[in-house]
Formats: sequence, C-alpha cells, structure tokens
Amino acid sequence: MSERSLAPETIVVDAGRPPREPNAAVSPDIELSATFVATGVPGPDDRTYGRSHNSTWEAFEGALARLEGAQLPGLVFGSGMAAITAAQELLAPGGTLVAPRHSYMGTLSGALTAQQLGRLRLVTVDIADTDAVRAALTAAAADGSGRDETGRARLMLWVETPTNPMLEVADLPAIIAAAQEAGALVVADNTFATPLLQRPLEFGADVVVHSATKYISGHSDVILGIAVTSDPALRELMLAHRAQAGGIAGPFEVWLALRGLRTLALRVERAGDNAMELATRLTDVAGIAVRYPGLPDDPGNARAGAQMTGYGAIIALELPDAATADAVVDAVELFTPATSLGSVESLIERRRRNADEQASVPEGLLRLSIGIESVEDLWADLSAALRAALAD
Ligand SMILES: Cc1ncc(COP(=O)(O)O)c(C=O)c1O
Repeated sequence: MSERSLAPETIVVDAGRPPREPNAAVSPDIELSATFVATGVPGPDDRTYGRSHNSTWEAFEGALARLEGAQLPGLVFGSGMAAITAAQELLAPGGTLVAPRHSYMGTLSGALTAQQLGRLRLVTVDIADTDAVRAALTAAAADGSGRDETGRARLMLWVETPTNPMLEVADLPAIIAAAQEAGALVVADNTFATPLLQRPLEFGADVVVHSATKYISGHSDVILGIAVTSDPALRELMLAHRAQAGGIAGPFEVWLALRGLRTLALRVERAGDNAMELATRLTDVAGIAVRYPGLPDDPGNARAGAQMTGYGAIIALELPDAATADAVVDAVELFTPATSLGSVESLIERRRRNADEQASVPEGLLRLSIGIESVEDLWADLSAALRAALAD
C-alpha cells in the first residue's frame, strides 16, 4: 500500500517496523552496538560508529518523517533541548533569532545564553500578533537574511504554536509567508500540537522540532527530542552537529518512544476530548480565567480551527495570585503536581515557580496537561481543589 494513502492514525502503528519477511520480528530490535564491522574506507552508506548510526534510531526517525510529511528521515536527539540547540545552530554566527516571547522557557534561556556569548541576537515578539512578527522580521532583515557560505541562516523565525504556557496561537501561514519574504529560515516547535494535529512543514516551515519526551513518548518515562526537515543541506548540518556535539539518544529510550508512538492517535484524541470538556466546565467557575484554543471565545480559536485538526490537551488557568494557585496545586489528589506535559496522567504546575519562566506569565497561572483518565474523576478532583482554594 502506498504511504500517501495512509492516515496518521495508521502511520503511528505501521511506521518503523522491520521489513516484512518470513519469520521476521514484528517489532524493531533495540540495537545496542557501539560500533560496526569495518570494511575498508567507509562509503556514504556504511555504518561506522554508534555516535552516528543506530538502527533503532532509524526506525523512529523514519516514523516521525512520515508523520510530519518530510521527504528525509528525522534526526533523533537525547532531549528536546538537544534538538532545539541543533536547530538553533542553523543560525549563522551573529545572526538574528526572532522568537515568541512565550516560547518554552528552556528555548528562551538557551537563546539568551547564546546572545550573551555573542553568538546571536535575540528579538522576542508576541507570536500571535502577525503585524508585530512581520515588523520584527523586516527590521531584522536589514541586518542580513538568506544563508551564509556554510548554508546557515542569517535570520531565523522560531515558532511555537500554541505557545507554552500561554497558549497563544500564531497565524502559521501568514507568519511563515512573512518569514519567507524576509529571507528567514523557519523552525517550528510542534511539541504541543503533535504531527497529528498540526504539520508545520506543509505551511512552509523549514524544520520541525519536538520534545519527544511529551506526547510522542507519552508515558513520562523518556527524555528525547527529534528534528525533521525536507532540506538535505539543513539535515546535513544538524547531523554533523549531532555527531560532533555527541549528545545522542540511547537506543532503549528511542525504542520506548517508538512503542509510545503506537498509541499517539488514541491518546491525543482522548486527552483532547477530556481537555475540551474540562475547559468548558471551567468557564463556569467564578474568579478564574481559562485559556484553551478549543473554547469558542478563546482568541486563538479561529486560527487553531483553520490550521489544526484538534486543539490539544493543555489548559492554562489564571488564578488571582500565586498563593491561590499554589493552594490548588496543594489540594489536588488525582492531578500530579509536576512539570512536563503530554503524558497519560494529568499534571498541574504553577509556571512561575520556575525561576526561568517569563515575567509576563502571570504569577497565578497554572498549566494543566490533561491526560486520558476519566473526565469525571478529573473534574471531581479539580473542581474540589478550586472550590477549596478560592474559598480561603
Ligand atoms: C514546547 C517544548 N519544547 C521543548 C521542550 C524541551 O524538551 P526536553 O525537556 O525533552 O528537553 C519542552 C519541555 O518542556 C517543551 O515544553
């Protein structure tokens, strides 16, 4: 059957299997070899060493490329941050990085460090404000755009939509068109949406990165990242970075991620249904503000409806202050107070407890990652905790 005819729900089950031969294994092996038998001068297809080659990686990398609609295999990394760093290394020294002011805090703090070291110039924008993004790109392009002699970009637009943790939704087609006009490379962090709900390469993004720690693995037991592109030169640069920086993924973690991927469609669907139901009920709770792109009144609702096939399973709740938000976190019994997201269990976190979180994120903002439990059990837990905290 041709790959093109398969739905994403089928690809997550079908991808990365060993070739179908008599007596072959149905699930891929975990390849643990650190080196490979050498046969003279290595050719381009020869496997040399475990920092550069691993068949378990390849199974996962092929699966993610199919899901994101890329022409080339993805590149797996030891964490989402390692994938993000590899993608940011596509920026030429001294280039400009335009990024959402509410990107994942690790992305921003990495970029800030790079700026302090003189490696890049960071410009942050409200990624939901298309005019502001366009203006930032036009202004930055005056200092240089296009690629340098090594193939690195002089200007890069970093996209996260919905953003972490504010859930702002960018107009993907509009900002990518603006970036292309300005000669900028576009990298999209697609962790929140997953390739089942949003495929940035189809809108013209050059590279997609994920924290595969989250939905793709889905069980809070793996730290992993992946970068995907259809551009051979960009892939080559990230591949060289991976082998040289050496922060590679362990084969067992990659195997676990591939195993988790098998149920991605079911998990995303169930968690999304739970999130929509909880967000809707939360709008009736006095004294809090709810952000969820699936709500008809949410500022990102129309955009998310146009460019995504679902709204995801992250809800942001704004409580009046840090103390009330902390009281909710202390009172829940089923939600787990923990950072991270995208797993089968529901997690809750007051984001500003993290020193690196942006000051423009309200002190009382709770990020809820909704899992696949019974929605009634989740509601009973959350509504009781809110009642107790708001009554105090
Ligand atoms: C949107 C987003 N991107 C990237 C990362 C970093 O991924 P990792 O923790 O796998 O390094 C995170 C982690 O929370 C995230 O939320």
